[in-house]
Formats: sequence, structure tokens, C-alpha cells
Amino acid sequence: MATASGHGRPRKPEVVDAIGREWLDRTCRRQARAVCRPSMSEIDFRRAQAPDLPAIVALLADDALGAGREDASTPLAPSYLDAFRAIDADPNQLLAVAVEAGQVVGTLQLSFIPGISRKGAWRGQIEGVRVARHRRFGGVGKRMFEWAVEECRSRNCSFVQLTTDKSRQEAHAFYERLGFIASHLGYRMGL
Ligand SMILES: CC(C)(COP(=O)(O)OP(=O)(O)OC[C@H]1O[C@@H](n2cnc3c(N)ncnc32)[C@H](O)[C@@H]1OP(=O)(O)O)[C@@H](O)C(=O)NCCC(=O)NCCS
Repeated sequence: MATASGHGRPRKPEVVDAIGREWLDRTCRRQARAVCRPSMSEIDFRRAQAPDLPAIVALLADDALGAGREDASTPLAPSYLDAFRAIDADPNQLLAVAVEAGQVVGTLQLSFIPGISRKGAWRGQIEGVRVARHRRFGGVGKRMFEWAVEECRSRNCSFVQLTTDKSRQEAHAFYERLGFIASHLGYRMGL
């Protein structure tokens, strides 16, 4: 009789399947990491420039949620250019890219937010996080976050915060691996 461990009470087939899938998933990821881990020294993290914009939008669009709300066709919609200009002109906004061999392989947006609470503490807010599909599980996201957190520290932020869609289970695992704690509940209202 099939059991998950070979001992004990037999499990229902769907439980065995779920365990098998999870094992396969983990094993594949471990092997992919071992084979594909890139040379990290060649990645540069910097403020985005206008020519990076199509690549940034393409990263935002190449995603289950982003696919339905972004438009990566070029020339880009003017609203993207307007947004870029607004971000670029604001000293408390930092749209960042990770660049490898001249290619944008990651992006995030940092906002430095002043506040009265906590004795006038500044906070860093991180949004729009993406690593190019072919570079995932290679440490790019981790290094991009280390860079981003350092930017926040250098701006005297007391802490860094972010929100993530409840459906993004994989991103949750990533953030928790980096030391973020799911301590708050986010609310949103469409306008
Ligand atoms: C989430 C994302 C940014 C992670 O980037 P990445 O470059 O693949 O992550 P890293 O390789 O640097 O991983 C850092 C750590 O997180 C873990 N991790 C990363 N993705 C994970 C996942 N999907 N499931 C479980 N753990 C994960 C890694 O195993 C690694 O742990 P380790 O230090 O023990 O090796 C990337 O997968 C991505 O862009 N996803 C799609 C978009 C998305 O969800 N963005 C977040 C929106 S809120």
C-alpha cells in the first residue's frame, strides 16, 4: 500500500500527489539554482534612465497580474513617459534597475516617505518588483533588495515596507526569506 514515507497509515492518493508535486517543484528549483546561478559581480544597480523604460514596462507586463494591466507595446503609451518624468523629477522617488551586460534584468521602485509618527520617522516603500524570468532563482532579487535597503538606510529611513498581492505566494516566500515580516494587513480601494 502506498504511503508518503513508506511507513504508517496509507495516505489518500491526492495527498500523495500533492506531496510528490511539492517535492518535484523543490527539487527542480534546487537543480535550476545549482545549474543557473549567475555571476553576480556583473550586475549593476542604478537609477533608471529614460532609455530603460521599455524594458521596465516589459518586465512589469511579463507577469500573471501585470499581463492584464500593462501595455508593453512600443512606442510606449504616453502615460508611462509622464509617470517616468514625475518620478525622475521627485527627489523622494527612485525607480531602479538591475543591469547585466547592458540588459535590464530587474526593477523596483523606491519611495522615501516622510512622516510625523514615530517621532518624524522616514520610511522606505518598495513597489513594482520584478526580476526577468530567465534570471530568477539566481540571487538577482536578493542583491537588488540588499541594494534597495541600503539606499533606504542611507536616506535615514527607520524601516522598509512593501505590500504584495495575496495571490503572490512565491513572492511572499521570497520576502520572508529576505527577513520581511508579514506584520500588517493592506487595504486598497480602486478609484
Ligand atoms: C519574487 C522575485 C522578485 C524573486 O527574485 P529572484 O531573483 O528569483 O530571487 P532570488 O534568487 O534572489 O532569491 C532569494 C531567496 O528567496 C528565495 N525565493 C525566491 N523566489 C522564491 C519562490 N518563488 N519560492 C520560494 N523561495 C523563493 C530563494 O530561494 C532565495 O533563497 P536562498 O537565499 O535561501 O537561496 C522574482 O521571482 C519575480 O520577479 N517574480 C515575479 C514577480 C513578482 O512576484 N514580484 C513581486 C511583486 S510583489
